[in-house]
Amino acid sequence: MRKPMLAGNWKMNNTRDDAIHFVLNVDSKLPTSGVDCVICAPAIILRDLVKRAEVLKIGGQNMNENDYGAYTGEISAFMLKDTKVDYVIIGHSERRAYYNETDEKINAKIKKALETELKPIVCVGENLAEREDGLTNAILELQIVKAFRGVTIDNPDNIIVAYEPIWAIGTGKSASSQEAEDACKFIRSLLAKNYGAEIADRMRILYGGSMKPSNVKELVSQPDIDGGLVGGASLDEESFIALCKACAEKK
Ligand code: PGA
Repeated sequence: MRKPMLAGNWKMNNTRDDAIHFVLNVDSKLPTSGVDCVICAPAIILRDLVKRAEVLKIGGQNMNENDYGAYTGEISAFMLKDTKVDYVIIGHSERRAYYNETDEKINAKIKKALETELKPIVCVGENLAEREDGLTNAILELQIVKAFRGVTIDNPDNIIVAYEPIWAIGTGKSASSQEAEDACKFIRSLLAKNYGAEIADRMRILYGGSMKPSNVKELVSQPDIDGGLVGGASLDEESFIALCKACAEKK
């Protein structure tokens, strides 16, 4: 079945020295089977981490959808690939909110990542007003349909979806395991409409939003939650190790 994944999203945190220490301290303590453990770090330190990580896999947090050219400050998929990272987060709600990332751009980025043999971790999720208005499924459907338009999936292991309700990100208030399961299950049903049940059943869907050692077991015990995309709690070595272990033990 699906191999759980625990991906840390460091966002704009950690210096090169802090990050290298983290990887050197944590790598040998991670489970070596039953889970993919990933850290998505700032681009400027990716190469330093890739060199030192053995069990841990490394990913970027964003990429530009163009191959090269006059896009000051941007990084291409090829450049990420050249640092030997495996994964890239695409469409995080912070990028949607602060950098005008549209569903169309996210769609182009997913296609470019797959074409470059990077594994995209595609983020979707509703905000608080949308949840309160009962629009969660409608928003998820819109985001999934637009993100995956024209995307071919040859290997379902290579593309991951993260359900991240915006109201739960960085707030300390996680979705309940039932809310998270309902959304992840709904996302799987949308993927099944696009790609068929066999592919959808093999795709990993993560939950993100205030996941931490104290709630990870309950969340990943749900049938459609295949792990987590974790911000704050991934910055601490002990808590990152605990999160990875909990995912490895998912039944
Ligand atoms: P959080 O962030 O775990 O700090 O809530 C999750 C994310 O933004 O991916």
